[in-house]
Amino acid sequence: MCGIVAYIGPREAYPIILKGLKRLEYRGYDSSGVALLNNKLQVYKKKGKVAELEESLVGKDLHAHAGIGHTRWATHGEPSDRNAHPHSSASGKLAMIHNGIIENYTQLKTELIKKGYTFKSDTDTEVLLNFIEDIQKNNNCGLEEAVRIALKRVVGAYVIVLLDKDQPDTIIAARKGSPLVIGIGKGEHFLASDASPMIEYTKEVVYVNDYELAILKADELILKNLGNEKLTPFVQKLDMEMTAIEKGGYDHFMLKEIFEQPETIFDCLRGRLDAEKGVITMAGIQNNIEHLKNASRIIMIACGTSWHAGLVAEYIFEEICRIPVEVEYASEFRYRNPVIHKGDVIIAISQSGETADTIVAIEKAKEMGAFILGVVNVVGSSIARISHAGAYTHAGHEIGVASTKAFTAQLAVLTMIALKIAREKGTIDQTRYMHLLGGLHNIPEKVKEVLKGSGAIQQLALKYKDAGDALYLGRGYNFPVALEGALKLKEISYIHAEGYPAAEMKHGPIALVDEHLPVVFVATKDTYYEKIVSNIQEIKARKGKVIAVISQGDDIISKMADDCIIIPEADELLAPMLSVIPLQLLAYYIGVAKGCDVDKPRNLAKSVTVE
Ligand code: M6R
Repeated sequence: MCGIVAYIGPREAYPIILKGLKRLEYRGYDSSGVALLNNKLQVYKKKGKVAELEESLVGKDLHAHAGIGHTRWATHGEPSDRNAHPHSSASGKLAMIHNGIIENYTQLKTELIKKGYTFKSDTDTEVLLNFIEDIQKNNNCGLEEAVRIALKRVVGAYVIVLLDKDQPDTIIAARKGSPLVIGIGKGEHFLASDASPMIEYTKEVVYVNDYELAILKADELILKNLGNEKLTPFVQKLDMEMTAIEKGGYDHFMLKEIFEQPETIFDCLRGRLDAEKGVITMAGIQNNIEHLKNASRIIMIACGTSWHAGLVAEYIFEEICRIPVEVEYASEFRYRNPVIHKGDVIIAISQSGETADTIVAIEKAKEMGAFILGVVNVVGSSIARISHAGAYTHAGHEIGVASTKAFTAQLAVLTMIALKIAREKGTIDQTRYMHLLGGLHNIPEKVKEVLKGSGAIQQLALKYKDAGDALYLGRGYNFPVALEGALKLKEISYIHAEGYPAAEMKHGPIALVDEHLPVVFVATKDTYYEKIVSNIQEIKARKGKVIAVISQGDDIISKMADDCIIIPEADELLAPMLSVIPLQLLAYYIGVAKGCDVDKPRNLAKSVTVE
């Protein structure tokens, strides 16, 4: 969480930083601020979204060629002007932005208080900044050295970026655990949490690694480790276009991303799936096939929507690969002393590749000897780099805080991985294998069909927008889809929603059912169809309002449900890639109808980089 941007070079820094902050707002939007260095060091900050900061700065002298900016997701201290970044040091000589958490900040703060320091904010960031300044004073050293010494004492995760009034030609940054990208221009440097703020200025980027320090001048980039040894920056070509970060005529990024799914799933399959020849080409899987096919157990580790993708994959892997699968919340896995054996394979699933809970869980499993396969969307992200092998989902930049296109791309990749392993293991017969390959190949076209029904779903949203609660039910492959539908509704519309296996409903949640409760059934034609028909009857008998996502040609549920959303038929293993789409649309349209900020729901951030 939190987005950071910095610039040093011949251009005006403020407009670049402001635009960059708007692009990074998905990472947090409790408050924002900038520090501009131009003979004097000016710090401006404001509670609320970046637009509020912008408005408050109209008419101010913002001229500077070096600056830093921050958009915050609050951890220490409530969202307020005072707790917003950048923070200034006690002397006013330094300004700093921070993404992450300094875990031992209380101890550092106590030491500083004993020395007479006082604090203007409740943040861990201000503590670290004054700790750095104190080291500078005591050791009579430059900022770079002080940062290096300070970071040896720091426990936690951070990207920090500093400006020093006495060094107007320099920006200093360091990273451990949170993302940091440097853009290399001609006589200028950019720095940000992801590459989106620099995309129109340069295609040359360096991803900074943990425990590295970057010293940036307009025409020079020096990279060092904390032992003060110089490192050679690994310059990569940026594979991102402006269209990826624009709304492209849609009202919201979320809607754009929902509608991009035929292309994103296609991109994910492209070059990998040859349905006619019956071949799946995935180097990361092929090169490690022995590990994978001989796995004694697969553990899926993820959070949120990615965790739901892991649950769908559990059904798929167990069905066709005959390998036992467990699906773990990363945050729980890490702290409960898990039992890991050498033959275990961890599949870590993450859109951002920066989710702190998932990262620490991977590190734990790695220490214990597991093989880590990353299924990640953001190229070059932390999880992609710490995994032994992996497969990118290629869903493109996902900006809407609610994950949509990343989920269907995760399902596509996980299905291909399962099919490849099953084929190598011989646990799937040729006919089923070819049938599933063909089915997967046809998914993008079927998603287009589902999207054609968006108008009807918008109408449905108007009918149900005032519900206080909602229940989402599904069985088998569609059970995780029900969970995902409920999560989307909660996030976007703030309506309380629960997802359940449809059969589990009678063990408790059925007590909630009355004539006011909308119950969304994900009830496509599959092995569980007859059973779910009975579950629908049980809800109808108690006067619940049934909204059902059903397969084309269904003439049973269509007569029972209050409202139906019809989607094309698909093999049950592939159906979640279709059945989730109406639920994404329903949540979106309800959120919009209720006047919610669907791209930036309250209290959330896109990438959760704190544990
Ligand atoms: O980037 P990741 O996939 O690791 O993120 C995991 C969750 O934080 C994420 O899926 C979150 O639940 C979304 N807001 C869901 O829409």
